[in-house]
Amino acid sequence: MAAQLIFLGAPGSGKGTQANKLVEATSYSHISTGDLLREEIGKGTELGNRVKSIMDEGKLVDDQTMLELLKANCDLDSKTYIFDGFPRNIEQTEALHSSVLNGIDSKAVYFKINPEVIVERITNRRIAKGSGQIYNLITKPPRVPGKCDISGEDLIQRKDDNEETVRTRLKVFADAIEPVLGFYREKGMLVEIDAGRSSEEVFNTLIEVTK
Ligand code: AP5
Ligand code: MG
Repeated sequence: MAAQLIFLGAPGSGKGTQANKLVEATSYSHISTGDLLREEIGKGTELGNRVKSIMDEGKLVDDQTMLELLKANCDLDSKTYIFDGFPRNIEQTEALHSSVLNGIDSKAVYFKINPEVIVERITNRRIAKGSGQIYNLITKPPRVPGKCDISGEDLIQRKDDNEETVRTRLKVFADAIEPVLGFYREKGMLVEIDAGRSSEEVFNTLIEVTK
């Protein structure tokens, strides 16, 4: 059985884009904690209302909430996952391995990218909520402006995809990631890939390193 994959990388490094491609090409399932939170907000649940302003500011939701949300949405008996957006700090990393994966074979992939290209990627991102497709007005525009190629639904811009919030998100990422990388590096579980290349080039490398 293939290893569970843990995608680590700054906002806009391409985790969601590459997860979608991998799901299409393999039997992996994708679990994105950011998508789960946005669903809760969309449904207006108690959890959604509680986390909305935190996400809009680009800060992290508390570890306990995130761990519970993750556990409630994954079924490790029957699926092999791409974990996208979890873990984000060392506390979440330790909790993932001690209380979710419990020794199940897994591998971390770090999407390395120069922070300078990120703001442009993110401010040009548009997403389709229903189909989960991710577009970019410059590098991956939809065929019909404003509409998803797959579902035809209207594309939206995430509320946290503005320049100011992106800068906060980048700082939050930079402040927490080193111990996470150290954790995986020490265990020989870390693969680093250059995420600054085209989406196709990144995917080709990803396929190789996840074999
Ligand atoms: P989340 O939704 O996880 O956002 P993120 O980590 O900031 O990452 P993004 O989704 O912005 O980037 P991505 O790497 O998926 O890039 P994408 O492929 O879309 O989290 C949002 C918020 O939720 C957090 O800020 C926090 O508040 C909360 N949260 C979530 N998980 C949490 C947790 N575990 N603990 C606490 N809080 C949590 O690509 C970006 C753009 O670039 C797109 O337009 C795409 O088309 C384009 N692109 C992608 N690849 C390429 C390429 N190779 N070349 C050119 N363009 C590209
Ligand atoms: Mg994403």
